[in-house]
Amino acid sequence: MSQPSVSFAKLAAPDTGTLVVLIAEDLALPPTAAAFDAKLGGLLARAVEKAAFKAKGFAALDIVAPAGCDLDRVILVGLGETAKLVEKDWVRLGGVVAGKLLDAKATAATLLVERADGTAVTADQAADIGLGARLRGWSFDHYKSKKKDEDEKKPLKLTLAVENSAVAKKAWGAREAIADGSDLTRDLICEPANVLGTEEFAKKCQKLEKLGVEVEILGEKELKKAGWNALLGVAQGSKRPPRVVIMRWNGGEKDEAPIAFVGKGVVFDSGGISIKPAAGMEDMKGDMGGAAVVTGLMHALAARKAKVNVVGAIGLVENMPDAGAQRPGDIVTSLSGQTIEIINTDAEGRLVLCDVLWHVKEEIKPAFIVDLATLTGAILVALGKLNGGLFANDDTLANRITAAGLATGETVWRMPLSPDYDKLIDSTWADMKNTGGRDAGSITAAQFLKRFVGDVPWAHLDIAGTAMGSPATELNKGWTSGWGVRLLDRLVADHYEK
Ligand code: BES
Ligand code: MN
Ligand code: ZN
Repeated sequence: MSQPSVSFAKLAAPDTGTLVVLIAEDLALPPTAAAFDAKLGGLLARAVEKAAFKAKGFAALDIVAPAGCDLDRVILVGLGETAKLVEKDWVRLGGVVAGKLLDAKATAATLLVERADGTAVTADQAADIGLGARLRGWSFDHYKSKKKDEDEKKPLKLTLAVENSAVAKKAWGAREAIADGSDLTRDLICEPANVLGTEEFAKKCQKLEKLGVEVEILGEKELKKAGWNALLGVAQGSKRPPRVVIMRWNGGEKDEAPIAFVGKGVVFDSGGISIKPAAGMEDMKGDMGGAAVVTGLMHALAARKAKVNVVGAIGLVENMPDAGAQRPGDIVTSLSGQTIEIINTDAEGRLVLCDVLWHVKEEIKPAFIVDLATLTGAILVALGKLNGGLFANDDTLANRITAAGLATGETVWRMPLSPDYDKLIDSTWADMKNTGGRDAGSITAAQFLKRFVGDVPWAHLDIAGTAMGSPATELNKGWTSGWGVRLLDRLVADHYEK
């Protein structure tokens, strides 16, 4: 089904479709809705009373419109204590409204964005409602050959009727870009690995050229020649050739150093020769989640013409067991020259990232690097699905990411790094080994990455818990919420745009 669309209009009740009204805790109807209700002979006020409706915490009351009125239905949504609503709440409200409309199979709806207490809903708040509606509207059902019913094929058109619709529409531009980026990330994560291999993923990146993003794709030959042996070692057991994609958005000053985002793009992780158990292995189609977030973020930043220079770099490989596959005990010389003893071929993400990180540090010379990776099962054990694991060698960057998480609701929790943990990955045979044993698995993975970023301010987000198998919320009922796109867009918007 195609995604819902959001548009803006001046504050007035519609003649047809579904009307959505926001109602305060004291059950007073806001002005436009009250005037409309007077025309209906007090239907809404009566329904609120008879249903003993409590307008708390986004509770909804769904009323079928009476005969003689061209509307289909009226949905009342309770705002609770409106003075307490912060940005996240307005986004969530949009999710609630879209959820009700989708459940009701509405195809055209108008939300009266007004409050009974007379205070205006700001343009930003109205646009945030739109963002929530778009996020909630995403679904992934291209592979269902039979749709549940014909009506569902028609996408929802949501009109936000708001006092200053021109200003709200302007504020919507950036949110729409973020929603589109988030949809791209989620589509990429859900796409099965037989469809989305390394080359197919790179082609999806190339589509960003339409938005003005420069896209450079490095193939196997170039990678071999330059010595990306850690990344190549992972790819060598698969028929799918490795790809590294470098995306550049130059929205800032010419001489300004870019900021860089790096993503793990393992299109499927079987574990390789250290093969994973069968149960749940299907989820490893999502092991390119880090790369998907970087790609969706680049889409969002370019689409909203962010005033910043950004580089997105992703390493795309498939981790498969094969006669040609890498073995435990193998030693590879990474792009940095540091040697790595492979203990477990299932700890492949860090092998991909270490070469991409080194390349970005050496060739791009960024102001900072943030990498995202579905790196360790251990981060799921530590933090579950509600916080991304944050590791950083720079407190300012870490604090900014933490704050962006609190603002968007895509929260992170900082984990430790220290030389004592670093010792756990020292190797008898090489400069380091690719696993440090069961204890502190997420931290030793981060210590490994740290050896490839030098002095560049760097943060690593372990998103194995947050990228997929997402808990159902008002903003997402699907397998993935696209966690990370809104977080990093906010980081950029708040600190790095001129
Ligand atoms: N892609 C996995 C991590 C993962 C697990 C992501 C669960 C999403 C959900 C990663 O490549 C992996 O296999 N990590 C190993 C590392 C171990 C062998 C040191 C792990 O976490 O078990
Ligand atoms: Mn693995
Ligand atoms: Zn993996």
